[in-house]
Amino acid sequence: MARENTPRTMGQQFGRRSWAEPWKIKMVEPIRMLSRPEREKANEGAGYNTFLLRSEDVYIDLLTDSGTSAMSDRQWAGIMLGDEAYAGSRNFYHLEEAVRSYYGYQYVVPTHQGRGAEHLISKALIEAGDYVPGNMYFTTTRLHQELAGGTFVDIIIDQAHDPMDQHPFKGNVDLDKLQALVDRVGAERIPYVSLAGTVNMAGGQPVSMGNVKALRRFCDRYGIKIYLDATRMAENAFFIQEREEGYAQKSIADILLEFCSYTDGAWMSAKKDSLVNIGGWLAVNSPEVFDIARNWVVVYEGLHTYGGMAGRDMQALAIGITESVEEDHIRSRIGQVRYLGELLISWNVPIVEPVGGHAIFLDAKRIYSHIPQNQFPAQTLAADLYLDSGIRAMERGIVSAGRDPETGDHRYPALEMVRLTIPRRVYTQAHMDVTAEAVKYVYDNREKARGLKMVYEPQYLRFFQARFERIAG
Ligand SMILES: Cc1ncc(COP(=O)(O)O)c(C=O)c1O
Repeated sequence: MARENTPRTMGQQFGRRSWAEPWKIKMVEPIRMLSRPEREKANEGAGYNTFLLRSEDVYIDLLTDSGTSAMSDRQWAGIMLGDEAYAGSRNFYHLEEAVRSYYGYQYVVPTHQGRGAEHLISKALIEAGDYVPGNMYFTTTRLHQELAGGTFVDIIIDQAHDPMDQHPFKGNVDLDKLQALVDRVGAERIPYVSLAGTVNMAGGQPVSMGNVKALRRFCDRYGIKIYLDATRMAENAFFIQEREEGYAQKSIADILLEFCSYTDGAWMSAKKDSLVNIGGWLAVNSPEVFDIARNWVVVYEGLHTYGGMAGRDMQALAIGITESVEEDHIRSRIGQVRYLGELLISWNVPIVEPVGGHAIFLDAKRIYSHIPQNQFPAQTLAADLYLDSGIRAMERGIVSAGRDPETGDHRYPALEMVRLTIPRRVYTQAHMDVTAEAVKYVYDNREKARGLKMVYEPQYLRFFQARFERIAG
């Protein structure tokens, strides 16, 4: 007879058979844990900003899923096929073909990473005084829109700002909010809707197919374009397959292609879904927009057949695109994130729910409820987690939100979170267990935590380089 404390497999814990990672490990990279005094010193040296830690001082690195994936043996083989010609590299044509086949856009401009493509599309489409509505801001995306003279307007559904709301598609656009913006500024001042598949800052929350279809109908009425941040669109396709009626039998690849068909183009940080360490692209259906972007790419990125990537990078990316839509891959990728989330939920640690695609977002507002937002509770929590266990996470709250360009005040986002971002194909279930236990320990000791004050603040994207000190207790 099973005893109460009989250890259970991960599957049994959740009333099902276990899954295992659909890969085996061919090469390892040793990691080590510093002693607590060493971690204390590293934390202080980094000004309590996890971006300023040296990676060799980190035990489990959950700072980001960007460029941190493990490439497959097929991708590494592709690296050896790099054609490093300045112009017309064959790897570019492989990449172009992969983007056309899997995302469906006609014209492809390579860039060194996502923000290179954001720069091009913002420059091509936004004029001073324009408004760019979007389903929640993303740091680099909004900054490029502002630098091009635009004003970002948040039109995501209200539920996205509530970490406990269980809406299955918290990334959806609220068409009433979009209508209100059209009524206020006029459709001619809105060059495009900036739509993100799985919304990073909302906790990796998806957009439904029904929502993008309705958005397309709305935009067609007013002649407004839709451009997609496709960075984690393959993960978004998984949630549609899992949750939306009529999609359970469709493949991830088919869902991805259908979703993109309702948009006019996309920009991509290939460092996420596409399983490469560097790379990106902009892809559009309009020959006019392509012409402008292709003109600018040679100024800012590199020739239009490499855009800042080496030939070998483009080959690894072309292969990564095909792997990113494999059903086993995506199920295990999101399953691993969900495993960590379910463990934390079962231990009553407050996180953003439902668990999203690429990360667990700890709800620092609830965890450090005694620390006011202007003493940076999420920044503090990330620093405390590193101190406890050598695990590196990232702040996604008031520091990331930056200052309002008009008033110069902090923006105070409703969500004040620490992101535990899971790199793809890098860590095992044991790493997830260690992470969950560390988070629980910090949570159990939450009352002892003291906030931070900012002592250095750069002008742009301050979360990357800002420095902090502990407030004396
Ligand atoms: C949703 C989203 N869009 C755009 C970017 C920018 O991409 P990159 O870091 O490759 O410049 C990121 C990167 O984190 C992202 O998460």
